Amino acid sequence: MTEKNSVKIVTIGGGSSYTPELIEGFIKRYDSLPVRELWLVDIPEGEEKLNIVGALAKRMVKEAGVPMEIHLTLNRQEALKDADFVTTQFRVGLLQARAKDERIPLKHGVIGQETNGPGGLFKGLRTIPVILDIVKDMEIHCPDAWLINFTNPAGMVTKAIFRHSNWKKVVGLCNVPVGMKMGIAKALDVEPERVQVDFAGLNHMIYGLNIYLDGKIVTETVIEKITSGDSSITMQNISDLGWEPGFLKALNILPCPYHRYYYKTDEMLAEETKDASEKGTRAEVVQKLETELFELYKDVNLSKKPEQLEQRGGAYYSDAACNLIDSIYNDRGDVQPVNTLNRGAIGSIPNDSAVEISSIITKNGPKPIAIGDLPVSVRGLVQQIKSFERVAAEAAVSGDYDKALLAMTINPLVPSDTVAKVILDEMLEAHKEHLPQFFTKSAAKPQVVKN
Ligand code: G6P
Repeated sequence: MTEKNSVKIVTIGGGSSYTPELIEGFIKRYDSLPVRELWLVDIPEGEEKLNIVGALAKRMVKEAGVPMEIHLTLNRQEALKDADFVTTQFRVGLLQARAKDERIPLKHGVIGQETNGPGGLFKGLRTIPVILDIVKDMEIHCPDAWLINFTNPAGMVTKAIFRHSNWKKVVGLCNVPVGMKMGIAKALDVEPERVQVDFAGLNHMIYGLNIYLDGKIVTETVIEKITSGDSSITMQNISDLGWEPGFLKALNILPCPYHRYYYKTDEMLAEETKDASEKGTRAEVVQKLETELFELYKDVNLSKKPEQLEQRGGAYYSDAACNLIDSIYNDRGDVQPVNTLNRGAIGSIPNDSAVEISSIITKNGPKPIAIGDLPVSVRGLVQQIKSFERVAAEAAVSGDYDKALLAMTINPLVPSDTVAKVILDEMLEAHKEHLPQFFTKSAAKPQVVKN
């Protein structure tokens, strides 16, 4: 740590439109988490956004009257020096790459989504080599820091760090569990603090196994409210399609909003196809939203997070991130859902796999709370996605074409090896610029073989 009572945080991808959320979170917690230096780091393509969001961050801090220095830089190594916490929220290839992840699979009748199916695979292939480079820089410049990763696909990325580097102090984070908890509180019409949930599964594949209100189990009541149409739990970026009541009652645990891609694949595909032709894919919608947000951020009279940011899917990120950092820093021992090594917490998932699970957070990081095993009704799907993530991370690191084809084919959203190959080839070509590992090998055999 830097000098006592003084925390240095580095945010990679600092020019993100989500940054004001983080700033707000750090300002709110300044008394218990004295962030004296916050370094926002970006790449040259993101410099303009970094300057706009950085200027807003400085105004927010000034208005709040906290002595937090905001530094803006394109020099990652310089920023990382002696950091206590590094947060990552970058997007390789920016939103243009996400739009391709969404549009290309759709052309072939397959879900096109940022973190699921072929889109999730390609986001992983682009991101994993970059995060492993960041970790190498951290080994040199801040070997004691905690890495808090929000970069998607967060589960696959966290897993890749554990498996393909020597870095151990990493926690993956997502806003889905906190979003579910808020949705449950709304359904029950109570304050969120009265609700607890035993979360377990994988990132964007997490289930609420037991739901408690003031310590009393209310899982069935919540499911009843959802199946009767009284309430619904979703996020801004996912169509709010309802569940078959009988299915949810028999499942008797709460799926996350992303489970719609697996349990309602046809309906979600139809919805995505319609949206893509009428209003654009989610990335295209978000591009417009971002332009509007950055116009607002430019206003020199603005010194707080604008409400419009809540139209993005990442609501509550700051709470999740700042609570986590605060709990590690203050050794709180409270329970938070995070992505961490399984270490036996979920029975049928390998010990060395990353899972998303309720964990006790201390200064030594998260300790996952053992749940035994997942119900048999969901176990197979979770294992399948885990296998997909593992093979995908291997493909990202090796640049091995066949491995990428294997990952694409075993993803449950892809109907066949032939379709997988068609999508893979088209996406490799479309993302060539950000996938050097597949194209720059000196191997005699070309990495991408077209029919
Ligand atoms: C949810 C997910 C995030 C994802 C976001 C996308 O919050 O949990 O992992 O980044 O949605 O939101 P967007 O507004 O970019 O579609």
